[in-house]
Amino acid sequence: MKPVRKAIFPVAGLGTRLLPATKTMPKEMLTIVDRPLIQYAVDEAREAGVEQLIFVTGRGKASLVDYFDMAYELERTLDDKGKDKHSLDPSRSGYGELVSVRQQQPLGLGHAIWCARHVTGDEPFAVLLPDDLMVGRPGALKQMVDAYEKLGGNIVCAQEVPADKTSSYGIVDPGMSDGHVTEVKGMVEKPDPADAPSRLGIVGRYILQPEVMEKLAAHETGAGGEIQLTDAMAKLIGTQPFHAIKVDAVRHDCGDKTGFVLANLALGMEDPAIAETIRAYLNR
Ligand code: UTP
Repeated sequence: MKPVRKAIFPVAGLGTRLLPATKTMPKEMLTIVDRPLIQYAVDEAREAGVEQLIFVTGRGKASLVDYFDMAYELERTLDDKGKDKHSLDPSRSGYGELVSVRQQQPLGLGHAIWCARHVTGDEPFAVLLPDDLMVGRPGALKQMVDAYEKLGGNIVCAQEVPADKTSSYGIVDPGMSDGHVTEVKGMVEKPDPADAPSRLGIVGRYILQPEVMEKLAAHETGAGGEIQLTDAMAKLIGTQPFHAIKVDAVRHDCGDKTGFVLANLALGMEDPAIAETIRAYLNR
């Protein structure tokens, strides 16, 4: 079994739910407390053993790639002023190899993944959607990689979603379950609650085998007229092991206004430097 050395970060979406903030700023550069969403996702991938970061970007997303550059001038200025350089973390610690590929048009998540096919080649890879902020120790992807080492094949991260929210998720048709691991018999993208095979919703972490790229190459459109990753993954079921796992982590859907604000509060309350002030304000 090949290890998961590569991770795709699809960051070419339009982020319309967070307009006007995302008009000129990539959604993934929005900050939760003191760091952008993309950094949380990259840190999670590195912790899971990922060596190569593949950003699928689009128009107006250059700042996402720039963020991981060394910032020599800033370092120098902080040095001159005798200031702590800890706050520059992303540009100072090793972040592995960063490759950026372009999605010319936002045709859907499946299409964004397919744009990275030449970089992933014949290796398995992880996919992390940075707007799904997962807070866990160890991180969500590390928990999935540990499961992958036993199960192999394809693994999606899943959680129970409210019955009236199935139309916002890819939903798993479940087979046998063993603890946190459920065999995947089928998958449907954004079903109406009445048609949903379960309430097990797929959230933004995946470990996939390279064959999914062949399925994506058909460029078939699905729900919402987009090229859906769920539809391509569904075609692998029966040909390769496919499991959903529930990780021990809290998920914040930061692609949505409520989730974004709540994530700031939740992580702010975990930051000893500001937690007291936030708590006092909320109590008032
Ligand atoms: P979303 O469904 O959150 O779409 O995409 P979005 O465009 O980012 O945001 P809204 O719904 O308009 O507010 C899930 C992930 O897939 C990426 C997004 O960047 C996000 O990380 N994506 C989506 C692409 O990279 N390309 C696409 O064509 C669509």
